[in-house]
Amino acid sequence: MNIEDAKLKLDQLTKEINHHNNLYYISSAPVISDYEFDQLLNELSALESQYPLLVHENSPTKRVGGDITKNFPAVKHRFPMLSLSNTYSKSEIEDWVVRIQKLTDEPIQFVCELKYDGVAISLWYENGQLFKALTRGDGVKGEDVTNNVRTIKTIPLRISDDAPKSFEIRGEIFMPIAAFDQLNEHRKNNDEALFANPRNTASGTLKLQDSSLVSKRTLDSFLYSVYSDEKIKDSHYEQIIQSKKWGFKTPSSHDRYIELASSIEQVMSFINYWDEKRSELPFEIDGIVIKVDDVNQQNEIGATSKSPRWAIAYKFKAEQAETILNSVTYQVGRTGSITPVANLTPVQLGGTTVKRASLHNADQIAKLDLHINDYVYLEKGGEIIPKIVGVNLKKRKAENTKVNFIQCCPKCDARLARVEGEANHFCPDEKACPPQVKGKIEHFIGRKAMNIDGLGQETVDQLFKSNLISDVSDLYNLKYDDLIQMDRMADKSVNNLLKSIEASKSVVFSKVLFGLGIRFVGETVAKKIVAAYGSIDSMMKASIEELILVDEIGERIANSLFNYLHNEENKILLNKLKEHGLQMEQAKKVLSSEKLLNQTIVISGVFHQYSRNEIKQLIENNGGKVGSSISKKTNLLVAGENMGPSKRQKAVDLNVKIINEDEFINLVK
Ligand code: IVH
Repeated sequence: MNIEDAKLKLDQLTKEINHHNNLYYISSAPVISDYEFDQLLNELSALESQYPLLVHENSPTKRVGGDITKNFPAVKHRFPMLSLSNTYSKSEIEDWVVRIQKLTDEPIQFVCELKYDGVAISLWYENGQLFKALTRGDGVKGEDVTNNVRTIKTIPLRISDDAPKSFEIRGEIFMPIAAFDQLNEHRKNNDEALFANPRNTASGTLKLQDSSLVSKRTLDSFLYSVYSDEKIKDSHYEQIIQSKKWGFKTPSSHDRYIELASSIEQVMSFINYWDEKRSELPFEIDGIVIKVDDVNQQNEIGATSKSPRWAIAYKFKAEQAETILNSVTYQVGRTGSITPVANLTPVQLGGTTVKRASLHNADQIAKLDLHINDYVYLEKGGEIIPKIVGVNLKKRKAENTKVNFIQCCPKCDARLARVEGEANHFCPDEKACPPQVKGKIEHFIGRKAMNIDGLGQETVDQLFKSNLISDVSDLYNLKYDDLIQMDRMADKSVNNLLKSIEASKSVVFSKVLFGLGIRFVGETVAKKIVAAYGSIDSMMKASIEELILVDEIGERIANSLFNYLHNEENKILLNKLKEHGLQMEQAKKVLSSEKLLNQTIVISGVFHQYSRNEIKQLIENNGGKVGSSISKKTNLLVAGENMGPSKRQKAVDLNVKIINEDEFINLVK
């Protein structure tokens, strides 16, 4: 292919991909499968790696990120980014309606919208292309976060030809609640600090330096206002409909995310509807925005230096409840971390009965100056667990005693410690403190670690109390006669459990390492360390400085791992595990043959007898390497059905041998 043809092909693929992207993310009506979509993207990506000079900065391949922004330059907004005046009172909304109606002759039509709780964004488009994405900043200058915004699937990189040549569109970027929960679940499994709420997470994500990390976190958008020198529509509502046609994600009246209202009653109906229903939305909102629909009337009514007079926000009050603090108890986690919990007189809040609230740590208790029997205010924030936000001091009695944080572990009486710079106290007696010992065993047998089935929390508790297990290595000494004596253990369940314990001896090393429950060594970290060091013995030889060299391992993790590996008691435990036959090093790959040794093989198209992954596996098991695109280094192309013609052509041009699925199977058989 010559460069002109390549350019034509590149343009055609880009248009096709953008079209399908729009159908998928904006219209929610895809017409091709994810697989076919990926094929198009792969084809484009291969073409781009062949012709790097033709790669456009708004290529759909930029969606996966990769560009690094060291610091985000400040860029002046073309029009200042104002904020909205807001109120928590419905009667102030009524006053506002009366007040602005006096500023214009014609009756006002309103548009009611949701107030998305995310990060304001301004997107500039030039000649149909995304040119710049700016945060609000101080309203006059924003930060240029274009590289990161390019990875957000609902933000079009190219838009339809009938959009103005140059314009700006503003809206909100947010993280859907499901994506937020999933992210935190993942962080929890990796022993990483949890994010507080979707809004802060969205804002933090937009400022990440590595755009490929941004692309892995699901961000979404709603756009709600267009700024252009060209006249678009006289109605704000019509402008939003128009923007959708250009390719933007905008709120729709079908879901009642946006609505026209010609009376205060209709405005109130919208507010009341969402005050009740907002908990059912897949994203967070913190209120309702009411705007004058007619753009000429907007101009007539005008703006102050801070906010337009033609719009106002009605903010929802965070739901609160008042109840009595009866006591504070302390939970001890698997890593010894102490969490204070407030026990409350049950009270209704946001549709559920609340009896307990987390108090986080000693600082939180001190800050609230909590006393037992105080009347406290509860709120549900972004988090599911309610929190105490204040004390009703008017109801405090003189005899209420101050809550003093405990000094000794409630479970084993060891003196608590606190590491400088960390918020939580912890119990240092990890080898004898019951919840720590039991918590470590439960973590070890978990699905993501050793996957030992048939050993419930209660049985662990009984085995611990009967002195049959005091650390994870004791699991491998358990005998039929020990287990059969436990409650609810019958012949079959004991045998199954013993089989499962035996099977865990072949669980891969990275899972064993994760299962040990070393602070900050979560699933992902364990995999990275194992990939770098291969065995427990070579890990033990590494210094803290060497451990830090591993990708994504910082000082905190390296210190924790080093201290664990060099503690005498842990060394004994690790030896016992080794003697029991657990995997303490990465398994060496056993090849089924060397038929494809040193061959780089590209696969493309749809296969019938094996899935793509199985074919990749077969290549690797026979000593070959899987290549991502055809190049001079490719030895073989396995062509399935519907392989793109350009790929085939490229293979022919480069003299790469092409075989079909059957021929491939014969080859490795
Ligand atoms: S209109 C001139 N509409 O609320 C201001 N803002 O305090 C135009 N927001 O910075 C803003 N949802 O980040 C508008 N439907 C909506 C909104 C919305 C959320 C945010 C926006 C703005 C802040 C105002």
